[in-house]
Amino acid sequence: MSWKLEEIELLNPIVLCGGMLNDALILKAIDFGIGAVTLGTYSSNSLSSHPKPWLYKLKGSDCYVNSYGIRHSYFDKEGFIKKTVAYAHSKKVKVICSYVEREPELSEKAVKLFEEAGCDIVEYNPTPLVMGCSGKDPGDLLDPVNLVKLTTEHIKVASSFSSIPISVKFPSTISNVVRAWNQFVERGASIAHIMNAIIPALVLVDGEKYFKTERGFGGMSGECVKPVSMARVKMLSDGGARNIIGTGGIMSLQDVQDYISSGASAVGVHSLIYSKGLAGLKSLIESSNKLFRA
Ligand SMILES: Cc1cc2nc3c(=O)[nH]c(=O)nc-3n(C[C@H](O)[C@H](O)[C@H](O)COP(=O)(O)O)c2cc1C
Repeated sequence: MSWKLEEIELLNPIVLCGGMLNDALILKAIDFGIGAVTLGTYSSNSLSSHPKPWLYKLKGSDCYVNSYGIRHSYFDKEGFIKKTVAYAHSKKVKVICSYVEREPELSEKAVKLFEEAGCDIVEYNPTPLVMGCSGKDPGDLLDPVNLVKLTTEHIKVASSFSSIPISVKFPSTISNVVRAWNQFVERGASIAHIMNAIIPALVLVDGEKYFKTERGFGGMSGECVKPVSMARVKMLSDGGARNIIGTGGIMSLQDVQDYISSGASAVGVHSLIYSKGLAGLKSLIESSNKLFRA
């Protein structure tokens, strides 16, 4: 039995996704023997933040809406990244280092720092740009054609300055995943991470916007995302892609199996932590250790 992303061996197919998880929680996931953890998402500047609340649970469901923000730069986090990579490797856990930049030339700094820190995979995650987290209006990036073009420019820079595998975390706004993936592969990406939260999402409570972002927009995660994300995993895998991380709404072992049978090589979890806590994560890892790869 072996779980692999590219040629990178994983203890099991579970990957902790990037987000607002605190550093202590990431270390706990490593102690549980998770397949991989994602650190971040970071940028060269802490791009945007806003007051709490950051998370809203949709009533009667395991669905959430979160308000985006990039709260740390990878320069601030360099010490943590290095220490965590060393600790993870001592436990045979792999590390994905995730970042977002608007200007393609800035990808050079990020990937050099990640490679030097020993990260196993570098992940470009453009969704925060579409949410306006770069401090700039997303403007043209709301159009998926422009977003795909910008992403290919970042991959091109990243692959020319780094020898570690490059993952792209797909924004929900790119629905033609096969066409986009062909362009990303051509520039040097080798892992497709499907997908980030569904954007934009708006929550009103008593007629008032719940999040204090400019327009109150956020992204939807949790079980509501699973059917959409799984369909895209299937589209990519039917198109011949391998090394797919399937993410969105994984709460149980059955969800993991569903993604694997749709063509994913590994699966990302995030909202699970809000729904079932650390105990839920531990139990999913333990049950996944017994899964056999077809
Ligand atoms: C509170 C919160 C913060 C998030 N922040 C990030 C982030 O910083 N980077 C990222 O790539 N995805 C981020 N996400 C998206 C998740 O990593 C994941 O792609 C998405 O939530 C779908 O998976 P899930 O249903 O298991 O949560 C965040 C999600 C939540 C709920």
